[in-house]
Amino acid sequence: MFDAQCPPKVAADVPGALTRLLINIDHVATLRNARRETFPDPVVAAVLCEAAGADGIVFHLREDRRHINEHDVARLKETVQGKLDFELSAAPEIVSICCDTRPDLATLVPERRDEITTEGGLDVRRNLDTIKGATERLFASGIPEVALFVDPEEKQLEAVCRTGANAIELHTGDYATAPSVEAQQAEAERLAKAATQAHALGLTVHAGHGLDYRNYPFFAQTVPHVSEVSIGFAVVARAVMIGITEAVRTMRQLVKGY
Ligand code: PXP
Repeated sequence: MFDAQCPPKVAADVPGALTRLLINIDHVATLRNARRETFPDPVVAAVLCEAAGADGIVFHLREDRRHINEHDVARLKETVQGKLDFELSAAPEIVSICCDTRPDLATLVPERRDEITTEGGLDVRRNLDTIKGATERLFASGIPEVALFVDPEEKQLEAVCRTGANAIELHTGDYATAPSVEAQQAEAERLAKAATQAHALGLTVHAGHGLDYRNYPFFAQTVPHVSEVSIGFAVVARAVMIGITEAVRTMRQLVKGY
């Protein structure tokens, strides 16, 4: 079980070494569903991620169930040993499933059916009543931490405080896709300012979207107070490329005998 009090192992010379790494396994389910198969199984992937040192697992139960489904959710709840982060929209049906699941963390995100992935943060100011209502339901079910996924904007952070949520996940997508070094530096500074403000407001700071093997180190050096990152696509994509060598060798052995 995830224990928020348990002291983490730290490599003192790595910026952000106290940051927890949560792996999003949605795209293992995307691959499974592409063939309407039972494998690759996102729950097995979650076990392997934790065995490799991940501090927890993230999944997004979408309204259209394009990757993770309810059966996965129940099995992940049974299986994951570290922190379990349930990403969801504020749709009442999904909030009910999240309440029944009781993950360690619920992260509210915006959701549009025609988007390829989550686009931008929540507009907390404009949807205050809906988000506040969902946050209250999640806390009332016994979930100890509710985060709102937001862009690094001062006005959104102020609105987060009015919902009662105790954490934010800073949207790092603009940082990840910045077209130049200068633009990326500017985005990192915007994230740093927002993280500092959120911390001063008493909010726990998480971050994610588009973080990868190249852009993470500069992010970690520049953005303070980030206790947790949620990373999915980069890890699953790299796993395919690293794993394909062994997979072909094994099949060649079967086909050619050497
Ligand atoms: N955080 C949120 C709120 C997301 O919606 C996603 C994508 O599912 C992630 C983090 C992970 O993003 P990526 O897959 O680009 O690492």
